[in-house]
Amino acid sequence: MTSSPQKLSVSSLQAGYGDVQVLWDISLDVGTGELVCIIGSNGAGKTTLMRCLSGLLKPRAGSIVVDGRTMTAATPADFVRAGIAQVPEGRRLFSAMSVRDNLLMGAYLRMDKGAIAAELERVYEMFPVLAERRRQDAGTLSGGEQQMCAIGRGLMAAPSLLLIDELSLGLAPRAVELLTESLRTVNKSGVAILLVEQDVINALELADRAYVIDRGRVVKSGPAMALVNDPAIREAYMGLS
Ligand SMILES: Nc1ncnc2c1ncn2[C@@H]1O[C@H](COP(=O)(O)OP(=O)(O)OP(=O)(O)O)[C@@H](O)[C@H]1O
Ligand SMILES: [Mg+2]
Repeated sequence: MTSSPQKLSVSSLQAGYGDVQVLWDISLDVGTGELVCIIGSNGAGKTTLMRCLSGLLKPRAGSIVVDGRTMTAATPADFVRAGIAQVPEGRRLFSAMSVRDNLLMGAYLRMDKGAIAAELERVYEMFPVLAERRRQDAGTLSGGEQQMCAIGRGLMAAPSLLLIDELSLGLAPRAVELLTESLRTVNKSGVAILLVEQDVINALELADRAYVIDRGRVVKSGPAMALVNDPAIREAYMGLS
């Protein structure tokens, strides 16, 4: 996919917390409009990587380039302005605020009231249950509805790249199906997606390409179709042989 312009380009990224280094040498790309997934065991460094890609954690070395611009030391607001929105692990909604107000938080850097209102309508169209529950506290939503709300909040920033840290964790199959379908729709509308997902089969079915991260290093990458059929991946991450 080197021919498509890169939305995001990460090179030799290193990051960690205090004395603990978590990411040792991460290089990956997401093309404009591409859907890429990241696979890795618990503690591999996936969330740490997502935090670097949204300005929440400063890398120790390496570079993050967005649309050709170096963003390595940029702030979270800079990342949002560059078109990157994050759906964080655990959803992180404001539970005592309404669904509508949570969604509007995603548009905090946008000024155009008309465009924000139109975006809100698009989110309600995508997730009608959020429209029905717009006045309800987000903390009273079911797990699946909370994830819809978290994705909706991300979309309210009108991103060109949506980062999602764990789409399906703890959710029933029906909710996962619905969310997966909505991600397809979002991606078809031209938004690139970088998805961290425990449900490896689901992720590889959805994605164009995938990276496997193990102990802070990319150990494998390629077209999702190729990885689905890779015996080592099937054994290590899908429990199949
Ligand atoms: N704030 C922190 N302070 C110190 N160490 C941390 C912090 N956050 C994460 N770590 C450590 O960094 C390593 C990678 O954690 P990270 O959350 O990035 O993994 P992950 O791949 O997202 O795992 P999971 O699949 O369980 O979500 C772990 O060993 C973890 O203990
Ligand atoms: Mg994580």
